[in-house]
Amino acid sequence: MRNRRLAGENYSLSCMEFHACSRGITLSILDGKRILLGISGSIAAYKTAELARLLIGQGAEVQAVMTDAARRFITPMTLQALTGRTVRAELFDAAHEAAMGHIELARWAQRILIAPASAGFMARLAGGYANDLLTTLCLASPAPRLLAPAMNQGMWADASVRDNVTLLRQRGATFLGPDEGGQACGDNGLGRMLAPERIVDLLAVSFQPESWRGRRVMLTAGPTREAIDPVRYLSNHSSGKMGYAIASALRERGAEVVMVSGPVALSPPEGVRLIRVESAEQMYNAVIQGIHDCDVFIATAAVADYRPVKIHKKKTKKQGGEFTLRLTPNPDILRSVATLKNGPFTLGFAAETHDVTEYARAKLKDKQLDAIAANLVGGDQGGFARDENALTVIWPTGEQHLGMRDKRELAYRLLDVIEPLILESGKFMECRVKT
Ligand code: PMT
Repeated sequence: MRNRRLAGENYSLSCMEFHACSRGITLSILDGKRILLGISGSIAAYKTAELARLLIGQGAEVQAVMTDAARRFITPMTLQALTGRTVRAELFDAAHEAAMGHIELARWAQRILIAPASAGFMARLAGGYANDLLTTLCLASPAPRLLAPAMNQGMWADASVRDNVTLLRQRGATFLGPDEGGQACGDNGLGRMLAPERIVDLLAVSFQPESWRGRRVMLTAGPTREAIDPVRYLSNHSSGKMGYAIASALRERGAEVVMVSGPVALSPPEGVRLIRVESAEQMYNAVIQGIHDCDVFIATAAVADYRPVKIHKKKTKKQGGEFTLRLTPNPDILRSVATLKNGPFTLGFAAETHDVTEYARAKLKDKQLDAIAANLVGGDQGGFARDENALTVIWPTGEQHLGMRDKRELAYRLLDVIEPLILESGKFMECRVKT
């Protein structure tokens, strides 16, 4: 094992290496894999040289394909030297077409990795323009597409870019990042290309659909309602959007998903087994009944901590003056799962109005969780009910902030962060003892 510190992350082992070790195989997952490395025009193209070097180091065959704009940032000669292959750039190149035509190249690729993917390139791809070699190869190839975007934070937030991302994702593209932080233009925000090491790890994960396939994940979502009488209840503002987005992302990555959901106005994602509940006690019972053969438990539900001691059978009548409601604590579902013997990997959520990460760290320790995702609730920036959210994922040896973005996109980023943690925990492997 070796320790590696990535920007804002601290993994003691990359997922790619872990799989290799856990099965007693010395080869890298990427060994012999045919990667078409597309490079479009962005200052981040300088990092692609390191990316190519890492891929070659893992034994991958790498064919670099550059757009015109990419060649203004990095020379084909650099990539040729690193990959050992002549870089392709022209759609109408008689010599290259004679050796390996572009359709043949499209069929050769097992993955198309575009790093960096510029706003302009994504727009052309979303629009189906085959006006250069790289877009033509993307359209012609059956290989899964992975895009590592890189652009100014304002561009990434622009509505047209958001639409293109949504469209490309709907058509099956996987987005790796972007990261947030300082940018070449001096801005600070979301839009940096992911670190090359992280891209390599995630590319390796893409060759392992089995890392989620066949695995069962249970998650809780939405609010609970604690009845006072037949017409009134105690509850909160959770809409279920965060939990349903995670369920959908998990399904897309091949997991078998059981979602225990409080009352929300959302339709369950296709393929997700939904157990509808109202109260925290019902949620607790449903979770405890089904958790024994799950590998991962994700608690996004906003569970009421207390319920009325007494549920009135009839509507309580208004009386003059103050009204006192006696409450009793609800069972802590997350804690119960996290403390199970041979239990699943547990990811809790922490919803706070202030001192979010401090409280989250305390909950991580107190509830004995593997990881916790902390978010603000209440106020304008709060994660309740809105389409967007930001999370800080914290685990015992590290943390990573995922900036404000659409909850559906955030769900994928969250899975990217926890996938290596789960693999490392060993709770996701064939050898896990089922209770
Ligand atoms: O549903 P949305 O509108 O999209 O909003 C998303 C969200 C803000 C609800 C979500 O991102 C979130 O933060 N969910 C957790 C809310 C919460 O109850 O946090 P908490 O800090 O009070 O609880 C800590 C953890 O313990 C949570 O994982 C919670 O599910 C769990 N818990 C709490 C109490 C209890 N009795 N049982 C539990 O399992």
